[in-house]
Amino acid sequence: MKEADHTQETIRLNFNENCYGCSPLVRAGVEGVLLKELHLYPSAPVRLETELARRFGLNLDQVIAGAGSVRLIDGLIQTLVDETGELLIFENSFVAYEQLAQAHSKNYRLIPQSDFICDPQAILDALTPQTHLVFLANPNNPTGTFIAHDQLEQLLVHLPTTVFLALDEAYVEYVTDPAYPDALALLKRFPNLIVLRSFSKMYGLAALRIGYALADAALCRAMKKKQIPFSINRVAEEAALIALEDQLFVEYCKKENETGRNYLWKELTAAGFHALPSQGNFIYLHFDHKGDASNAASALARCGILVSDLPSGGPQGALRIGVGDQAANSRVVECLRSLPPVRK
Ligand SMILES: Cc1ncc(COP(=O)(O)O)c(C=O)c1O
Repeated sequence: MKEADHTQETIRLNFNENCYGCSPLVRAGVEGVLLKELHLYPSAPVRLETELARRFGLNLDQVIAGAGSVRLIDGLIQTLVDETGELLIFENSFVAYEQLAQAHSKNYRLIPQSDFICDPQAILDALTPQTHLVFLANPNNPTGTFIAHDQLEQLLVHLPTTVFLALDEAYVEYVTDPAYPDALALLKRFPNLIVLRSFSKMYGLAALRIGYALADAALCRAMKKKQIPFSINRVAEEAALIALEDQLFVEYCKKENETGRNYLWKELTAAGFHALPSQGNFIYLHFDHKGDASNAASALARCGILVSDLPSGGPQGALRIGVGDQAANSRVVECLRSLPPVRK
């Protein structure tokens, strides 16, 4: 694949998108739908759900596709949390959990991280009889940190069966650490586990809005009842099916991302920044002085690079920087290195 020339353009490293786009097979494959089927309503996404069930060795009724994993997050909140129930959300995690809890006027509590990690013990400590649902992003957005298989297993062993754990694996395809959980194996043992996945990240289909959940059949049925009719469009379903076929593209992006992620971590750490090791397609920088994160974000913007300046990063602030291609990553390093040392 050809390296992009970024000298003139603004580089978007603020949404954790795939900097390599999507599989070229997808572009070619959706043409038929775009040319001939735009006037047709979509059917229920059974083709995609069937293919996902086949790939993961599940029954069809354990899979539910949604218009982006945010739609499934929304469906879980609506289905599992009643007026008296509450949900638990980690601080410094994916913002949509809190936004959607608020949108549905649900009770929720924020639980603290330990050292930027969503520690399962914090979930167990925070449980009350009203807790019905817990969100755990693994790897976590924005920190890139993750919990290992045995930690997840122990959490599920100790979690009451009345509490559902939504394990959000939006970045699973980027993970390279062998300690990362095999959530599918745990799904077979724990019916209160839900695994959320996305086609927006590694598969590069963010614009089309498509994701899925793997869960207990009764829960999938309940969620399907609350879905908006025709919410998954024909292009998205077709694109997702083709994208799954092109695992060479996935391997390519995974390898490039790992190289870029290691490069950013090493160079930024050597330059004196506090960079967390990440398993996602982004890297988290935290700072010692208030205002420094925003100053660094402004400096990057002046270099034509957009990053996320995070209010959730605590009083000192933090940045989340997407891993780009080599040209983009070098530009990030070059720009951040030029900041005065005291302001890191
Ligand atoms: C942890 C996490 N889950 C879900 C999503 C949203 O995914 P989708 O585009 O499938 O709705 C994101 C997007 O940034 C994310 O970071």
